[in-house]
Amino acid sequence: MTTPAKKRVLSGMRSTGKLHLGNYVGALENWVRMQDEYDCFFFIADWHALTTDYADTSRLKENSVEVLLDWLAAGLDPAKCVMFIQSHVPAHAELHLLLSMITPLGWLERVPTYKEQKENIKEKDLGTYGFLGYPVLQSADILIYKADVVPVGEDQVAHVELTREIARRFNGFYRRVERPPNPMGTGLPMSGARAVFPEPQSLLTPAPRLPGTDGRKMSKSYGNAVLLTDPEPVVRQKLKTMVTDPARVRRTDPGNPDICPVGDLHKIFSDKETIAKVDTGCRSAGIGCIECKSWVADAIVKILNPMQERRRQYEDNPRLAWDILEAGSARARDVAGATMDEVRKSMGLDYSSNLSSNYEPAKGSTK
Ligand code: TRP
Ligand code: SF4
Repeated sequence: MTTPAKKRVLSGMRSTGKLHLGNYVGALENWVRMQDEYDCFFFIADWHALTTDYADTSRLKENSVEVLLDWLAAGLDPAKCVMFIQSHVPAHAELHLLLSMITPLGWLERVPTYKEQKENIKEKDLGTYGFLGYPVLQSADILIYKADVVPVGEDQVAHVELTREIARRFNGFYRRVERPPNPMGTGLPMSGARAVFPEPQSLLTPAPRLPGTDGRKMSKSYGNAVLLTDPEPVVRQKLKTMVTDPARVRRTDPGNPDICPVGDLHKIFSDKETIAKVDTGCRSAGIGCIECKSWVADAIVKILNPMQERRRQYEDNPRLAWDILEAGSARARDVAGATMDEVRKSMGLDYSSNLSSNYEPAKGSTK
């Protein structure tokens, strides 16, 4: 019996610079687990970063490197997964162009993140062609690797759904050509022609909502994030200033860890005993918030320490990290290139094969 081929996983992250705990529990931790089980491709979406941050690109490169270092720090392993950077696989742009030809405008205008972000982000002009078309680029990212599974957060599920619709539409128009076209020009051999793109499934990352120090969702733009690179004193300081259950004004007031953001962090990072201790201690005013916060800081520091140690090896030798990304990008170009050969053929864009079969000069006619 042959073992079934591993399923292909593809996911990407915008190059936003240093990652925070929310990125870790919301995506990266899951990716690290998946690399043992699946044929994984993970990429830094530097072109996607341009769809909103096109005006100032001065930190683009630096931001990509920071993401890569955090990936390696968190335990993504080049022996187990392919890590690459989008802009080093130009075929994504070619497929994006071809898919844009068949994507109805209405499908893009209906994407929930489109309207939402266009209305909410006022400091930049998002009325651009690139921003509207960004889910098509994402579809190209996914389809060019024929991914089976796309691990994403809730906000991205609609984009994977759009990818499925685009794949279906493409497969309806164009088929994979199994035999060479009939030279007499009687059309494509439809028997034996198969779909080019499989329809990918999104895999919703079971991520709890991670509060930042101000109690809102942890996000770099809110300035409430604990970075994976924060040294221990910084982590402790950030947690010390974290908001708590507002009912606990004085040390003697009882609180409720279920409505306290620090309580939420305990549920994500602390062990069962600590969570129980917090629950009874908070409700009976038996513990103080300072003490409670120091326990969650302990748990977070314990997770970050080995990451930061691993990161240091690559910071001391950045070439090493960059070589991993280069090798991954070369592998990605191979896979993407093979898909594009099929895509061009199925769309009738394979000029070179026609030229060689029909227009080869007669032997001896040239010297
Ligand atoms: N759009 C995703 C985000 O903002 C990043 C991304 C780009 C992506 N291409 C992808 C995720 C392909 C999954 C698959 O987070
Ligand atoms: Fe929050 Fe802990 Fe204070 Fe309770 S004791 S309010 S869980 S910080």
